[in-house]
Amino acid sequence: MRITMIGTGYVGLVTGACLAEFGHQVICMDKDEAKIAALREGGIPIYEPGLDALVAKNVREGRLAFSTEMAEAVGAAQAVFIAVGTPSSRRGDGYADLTYIHAAARELAVHLTGYTVVVDKSTVPVGTARQVARIIREANSAADFDVVSNPEFLREGAAINDFMRPDRVVLGAESERAIAAMKELYDPLYLLSTPFVTTNLETAELIKYAANAFLAVKISFINEMATICEAVGADVKDLAKAVGLDGRIGRKFLHPGPGYGGSCFPKDTLALLRVAQEHGVAARIVEAGVEVNAAQKARMVKKIRDALGGSEAGKTVAALGLTFKPETDDLRDSPALTILPPLFEKGARIQIHDPQAMPQAASMFPHFHYTSSAYEACQGADAVVLLTEWNQYRALDLAKIKAAMKSPLFIDLRNVYEPAKMREAGFTYVCVGRN
Ligand code: UGA
Repeated sequence: MRITMIGTGYVGLVTGACLAEFGHQVICMDKDEAKIAALREGGIPIYEPGLDALVAKNVREGRLAFSTEMAEAVGAAQAVFIAVGTPSSRRGDGYADLTYIHAAARELAVHLTGYTVVVDKSTVPVGTARQVARIIREANSAADFDVVSNPEFLREGAAINDFMRPDRVVLGAESERAIAAMKELYDPLYLLSTPFVTTNLETAELIKYAANAFLAVKISFINEMATICEAVGADVKDLAKAVGLDGRIGRKFLHPGPGYGGSCFPKDTLALLRVAQEHGVAARIVEAGVEVNAAQKARMVKKIRDALGGSEAGKTVAALGLTFKPETDDLRDSPALTILPPLFEKGARIQIHDPQAMPQAASMFPHFHYTSSAYEACQGADAVVLLTEWNQYRALDLAKIKAAMKSPLFIDLRNVYEPAKMREAGFTYVCVGRN
């Protein structure tokens, strides 16, 4: 099939490259000329394992191209994906900003030729697909099209695998013709017996928010359990294992930490709260999940301060990892961005190492000290704080870390290390929910 992807951000680029890999003819289009020029030269604007090779292969084999021209990209397409950003609104009220979605719908409308499926891939509030249909109809009353809601479930750092081997594909559609076109598009997944959930537009849109909200609440739940474990002398790792072994609960997403971050959970939980509010219904569990997450980040600051003897003034803190999780260079809503500044403001010197995000961080926090390795970050430190569980921090040379530090205080906000082993190695070891 001939497919156009509007928006070459994280979702658009991964989806475009993967659909090309399925054998379709894909044009990824973006208004950002510099970005398209870079993509044409093989430059990938984000760090996502395997994406550069996948893009290069499909460009080389003639299935993937880049364009800034809406007319060229949309005219011949049988399916046009809208994969533009839906950030939280600048008003700070948690509403999703649909400016880019509406603009894309308006602009693509006039170029539609022949029957076209317009696919909402961006994460959007309930009702957006119908708005998109209305906008297209208003801009081009002769257009022959259907709108489909097809939410994405891609994790940063594992996006290609999540696309190629999804747990499910959700299709919100209201015409047989549109469903048939989507099935053709995802044909290789049928061969893998991937479950497809076909439903109406509103349900498909809400499924995406519900899935992310459930996962966010699951994390907040285990973080709350970690706090209770600390209070009563229990071990959250054993607790999570035993609770998660109940098949009805499941072991995934029961890892306590500094709170969830990223471009999805924080934004989507708030947007879901607004959807509920707008419709006059309560969403108290999601609301509590959001509050617990904010409290968790604040609790981490206190944990570090307490471990430093009640004050961080004049202390050197080595921070390992800045991104909201490993295998990404994404700093959006990363817990590190909430946890480190208060320490700095109270007089701590912050020495940082992160495998991917230091250039972006340096422009946000010019007063932090950026280093070339975990060991350099630990030089002269009063404490090391492990914020992101990058693989290279899982097997640190502990003797080398200890020798570099002023005092051997290890604060592990991802519970990567074993308390007994760390004590044996001579560290004062502080972690989450298991001391
Ligand atoms: C999330 C969802 O997992 C994807 O299914 C979804 O498609 C995506 O949002 C999206 O809406 O686009 P992502 O934000 O890439 O994916 O990251 P996750 O792996 O879900 O992690 C989110 C945050 O939760 C991270 O800060 C991570 O450290 C934290 N987390 C995760 C925990 O603290 N504990 C856990 O057990 C799991």
